[in-house]
Amino acid sequence: MKRRSLLVGGAGIALAAGGAGVLWRPDDMGAPHNDYFSNLNSLLKRDGPGRPVMLIDTERMNTNIDLIVNSVGREKIYRVVVKSLPSVPLLEQVMRRARTTSLMVFHQPFLNAIAEAFPESDTLLGKPMPLAAAATFYKKLGNTKYDAANQVQWLIDTPKRLQQYQALARQLGIKMRINFEIDVGLHRGGLPEPDALAPLLSSIGKDPEHLQFTGLMGYEPHLTGLQASLAHPAVRQVLDIFKGFIDQAKTAGFDAEKLTLNGAGSHTLGIYHRDKTMNDLSAGSGVVKPTDFDTYHLNENLPALFIATPILKRYDELKIPGDPALAKLLPLWNPNMRRLYYIYGGYWKARVVSPPGVADPIYQSTNQSPITTSTAVDLEVDDYMFLRPTQSEHVMLQFGDLYPFKGDQLLDTWPIFHQTG
Ligand SMILES: Cc1ncc(COP(=O)(O)O)c(C=O)c1O
Repeated sequence: MKRRSLLVGGAGIALAAGGAGVLWRPDDMGAPHNDYFSNLNSLLKRDGPGRPVMLIDTERMNTNIDLIVNSVGREKIYRVVVKSLPSVPLLEQVMRRARTTSLMVFHQPFLNAIAEAFPESDTLLGKPMPLAAAATFYKKLGNTKYDAANQVQWLIDTPKRLQQYQALARQLGIKMRINFEIDVGLHRGGLPEPDALAPLLSSIGKDPEHLQFTGLMGYEPHLTGLQASLAHPAVRQVLDIFKGFIDQAKTAGFDAEKLTLNGAGSHTLGIYHRDKTMNDLSAGSGVVKPTDFDTYHLNENLPALFIATPILKRYDELKIPGDPALAKLLPLWNPNMRRLYYIYGGYWKARVVSPPGVADPIYQSTNQSPITTSTAVDLEVDDYMFLRPTQSEHVMLQFGDLYPFKGDQLLDTWPIFHQTG
């Protein structure tokens, strides 16, 4: 009710909002950049490259890393999710500050890059890779200190994939470490119940030269949105299922403390501070907090990732193709459509965060996108607009080198991962 004024009657532009005869007219939601974005605007106008860039606020990022590390606690391992932070120097910062060398990887070219850049890391695959991707990894593994036999844990979800990997290990004369994906309620695949583990462990036990069992991975993002604590029945269920698998491994003679028992992600990591079922928790996105991560357990984390893009054009009236009457009527109805800007690029998985109060887009273009605002927004051509990506993993790869900054200084840029290799 605060954001809109209520009009009763059928007159005006027919933007019905719910009940018959009741129309909601948008309030003027526009405002100038606040101090934070105003400073960034000055910084980019002074030192920026004049094109869309992906900014990272390193101070906010450090705050977020500390929050995650505290949440994981000292007894468990914090594993950094590489796909959500796809840049070697970015990962370096996170690993150094979090004092961890554990990574989770989801893409073969990134895995090769990790072996090269972080030869001391312990790398768990976050999804089961096609055999050909595993084979490519070994083929491309150059002369690095990375000891794949002891540092990569391949994720296996079915007996068939285990057989395929075993055949590859024999063919290459190598040992492969095996971590099993287990279904703890997400139903995205993995071993469906603890009994499924026994024959697989038995196969591994018969071929110690080529296979080694190193742990379990049970991801549970379906707990997101429940505002769940450890006592929540859905959390208990996840942990009970996980324990069932651990018991099965113990029955087969494995010491649970020596296994990598991985779970969680940024959304849910905060649940497990006082629980010991899993000893290895993952998070990536929470380090930079895109909008999809404005969730309960990340309440204290700060948005640290922004697309900044220059304004190319400004008009003090709405211009749209087609009927000119509509271009006159829409701003009368919606004050947030009285000024029209075109930004450099657009149509990203992202939302404008500053200036505030932009109207829903009239259309989107990856080349130059229209943004309409109220007259309370008074930016000029060459000023910047700022967007928050909805997710980091894909969007961070769309801008070339990342632009980290600290206060009012741009730092050296950080290259992103290559998609191929
Ligand atoms: C297996 C697995 N673990 C953890 C994560 C969490 O990553 P993030 O913290 O970036 O959400 C994901 C995300 O997709 C995942 O697939």
